[in-house]
Amino acid sequence: MEDFKVKDNSLAPKGNLQIEWASEHMPVLNQIKKRFTKEKPLKGLTIGACLHVTKETAVLVDALLAGGAEVALCGSNPLSTQDDVAAALAESGVHVFAWRVQTTEEYYWCVERVIDHKPMITLDDGADLVGAIHSKRTEALTNIKGGTEETTTGVLRLRAMEKTGALKYPIIAVNDAYTKYLFDNRYGTGQSTIDGILRATNILLAGKNFVICGYGWCGRGLAMRAEGMGANVIITEVNPLKALEAAMNGFRVMPIAEAATLGDIFVTTTGDISVIRKEHMQKMKNGAILANSGHFNVEIDIKDLEELAASRRNIRSNLDEYKFEDGRRLYLLAEGRLVNLASAEGHPAEVMDMSFANQALCVEYIAKNEKMPPKVYLVPNEIDETVAKLKLGAMKIEIDELTDKQKKYLATWEMGTI
Ligand SMILES: NC(=O)c1ccc[n+]([C@@H]2O[C@H](COP(=O)([O-])OP(=O)(O)OC[C@H]3O[C@@H](n4cnc5c(N)ncnc54)[C@H](O)[C@@H]3O)[C@@H](O)[C@H]2O)c1
Repeated sequence: MEDFKVKDNSLAPKGNLQIEWASEHMPVLNQIKKRFTKEKPLKGLTIGACLHVTKETAVLVDALLAGGAEVALCGSNPLSTQDDVAAALAESGVHVFAWRVQTTEEYYWCVERVIDHKPMITLDDGADLVGAIHSKRTEALTNIKGGTEETTTGVLRLRAMEKTGALKYPIIAVNDAYTKYLFDNRYGTGQSTIDGILRATNILLAGKNFVICGYGWCGRGLAMRAEGMGANVIITEVNPLKALEAAMNGFRVMPIAEAATLGDIFVTTTGDISVIRKEHMQKMKNGAILANSGHFNVEIDIKDLEELAASRRNIRSNLDEYKFEDGRRLYLLAEGRLVNLASAEGHPAEVMDMSFANQALCVEYIAKNEKMPPKVYLVPNEIDETVAKLKLGAMKIEIDELTDKQKKYLATWEMGTI
């Protein structure tokens, strides 16, 4: 069995400095690590993780190791691994199989090496690990107690599995904790997507028409930040409630067919397929920039782009030009993969602190709870509240407590207009 495979072991010292920097901004996870070090709640457990291999993930892995677990890790995207971090993790005894820029075959090869380590708990981001275990590696199911899922797209896939009876072990939807999606999906994606676009292009956002497809948590965060940079934000949606919310937040809302003619920059954050496709690309302005921040590289129809283009050039890192017969050029960032991870460094450590605190506490919850039927579970409320309290404490923010009179008032129905 292979122990690990990374791009370059000699990058480990650089990776360690990155991890140290992230760790300084992850006080909640560090408190959990401190307790795990003492209590060893994960002793004897092998954890198989398919997560973006970033410096923040390394801090989570460190907490799991402190809890007594053995960890096997692969990336959850072919373009998101930070090679120096992967090298540092390999050096510290993690079975890590990840490097930046992988073919689809290499990507799934790494997923299978994690499964080779016989995980008892899985951590997934997008449900590719769970998918592989439930399809080609079903023998691994016998060892598994449960798992967690980090992102919206993964939770959608798992709920589809649950519905058809395909899901064979319990999974906690970490994505659906308040202390995850309200901060990670919104502020994390908002800031880091802008970061990815700027690193790839260095364009000025002020005055640009910035089209965001999908006004969910990620789209909202991105709209807020793009507006703050002086862009004119246009939203496209399929959900009337979200569309209405976008309109009331002051953004223009219209179908993608109309937005296609106006946009200077397009970002998809839907978790859906073929949101920007041939008929839209045919109408776009010369120089329009296309990026995706949704989980999979299916939101912008890249096959359509390739079919329409007469030629393609790589202009700079994460920026490809597609030139059409009529002379127009469209620019695709990071091959249509998660632009914030492929072209920048993913979410800032401060938000991953909360997402990964949820992950660590949910892993502990699964380790301690026997006989959870195979379903998709919400994060227990006490975990969500613990994470919020620890984060507030770390930020030195105090809040009020209900008085006895208030508790009583809030729990009764007799008192009305006075
Ligand atoms: N880039 C990152 O680091 C990051 C972080 C968190 C989540 N994600 C991913 O981003 C995606 C969105 O996550 P979310 O939490 O915002 O989900 P969400 O469910 O809150 O929002 C998605 C929105 O897209 C809309 N939508 C669906 N199809 C559409 C279409 N064809 N056109 C326009 N709008 C459409 C939905 O109505 C919904 O409002 C998911 O794939 C998720 O896994 C990425």
